[in-house]
Amino acid sequence: MEEKSFQEMLGKKTAEVQQVISGTLERYLKEKDELPYVHTILEAMEYSFMAGGKRLRPLLMRETYQLLCGEGKSGQTSLGEFMTALEMIHTYSLVHDDLPAMDNDEYRRGKETTWKVYGDGMAVLAGDALMNSAFEIAFSEISRTLSSDKSLEEKGRIAGCGEMLAKKAGIDGMLGGQVADVEAEKKNLPMDMDKILFIHERKTAALIEAAMGIGAMLSGAGEEEINKVLWIARKVGIAFQIQDDVLDVIGDSKELGKSVGSDAQSGKETYVTLCGLEKSKQEVARLSEEAAALLHELPGDHAFLEELILHLIYRKK
Ligand code: IPE
Ligand code: IPE
Ligand code: MG
Ligand code: MG
Ligand code: MG
Repeated sequence: MEEKSFQEMLGKKTAEVQQVISGTLERYLKEKDELPYVHTILEAMEYSFMAGGKRLRPLLMRETYQLLCGEGKSGQTSLGEFMTALEMIHTYSLVHDDLPAMDNDEYRRGKETTWKVYGDGMAVLAGDALMNSAFEIAFSEISRTLSSDKSLEEKGRIAGCGEMLAKKAGIDGMLGGQVADVEAEKKNLPMDMDKILFIHERKTAALIEAAMGIGAMLSGAGEEEINKVLWIARKVGIAFQIQDDVLDVIGDSKELGKSVGSDAQSGKETYVTLCGLEKSKQEVARLSEEAAALLHELPGDHAFLEELILHLIYRKK
């Protein structure tokens, strides 16, 4: 695929994703707006969510869904609700990750971090609110499907998506990775390849797995296909976090929209401190190329998804 047409497609697809998820969030916030005394939290949720971001997870969810069930069927499922819920969980993880008690960062998605604008307490609550509201949106959609005349198979599938969302965000997912990450840093615990892989697989790859895994499940894919998708997503996710560690060293803060040098400043052991910049970059390329090659084992037109995964090797933001 030519670079220009890839960039055009990426721009168009990201704008479509942005429209779906911002619409779903805005409708949700509007419903809550009648409540007295909670206005600040709604504002902080909107601030962090709408600040921007690449929207990679909902994009991967939609692309995987379309890959496995064909363009025509898009929009007829609960895809929008799950895309939004996942991006809300991702945003909550960023809001908490930036807190002074965690990474102590002041700049995110090109703006001041939520705690800088609303204070620590309100940022903790905004993260909590984004998480709870994500599950409220997902569960409403699950309930709606369960009380519809959809097939038993489809009902089971949507309940499974809810379970996957919770698991991949939880102890054996993003949250667990953050726990191991924060504890290692704050207590200066020794770091090695096994442990950094445990952390990267969870704090970052787990939500990418949720993105692609839920996309596959909603498409009606079978177990074997879903497992292949999860395996691809795991590689994409680990590569994504290694590249994040690389960009913390060589990235440009303006382009990234967040502070660089944050890891070094906190004396954090990362993939880069463990095996150096060059080896880290090689690992990003190796994992991404493996993931892209595995796409060929799936049916459907994977040209865009393959390009996207390969472009992430050279991402600067
Ligand atoms: C940042 O994720 C946190 C990591 C898991 C590395 P992104 O780089 O996807 O951040 P946004 O969503 O584009 O802001
Ligand atoms: C955090 O990793 C991943 C999350 C689950 C939020 P980092 O702490 O490296 O993410 P950035 O660099 O602040 O985006
Ligand atoms: Mg962190
Ligand atoms: Mg951080
Ligand atoms: Mg980082």
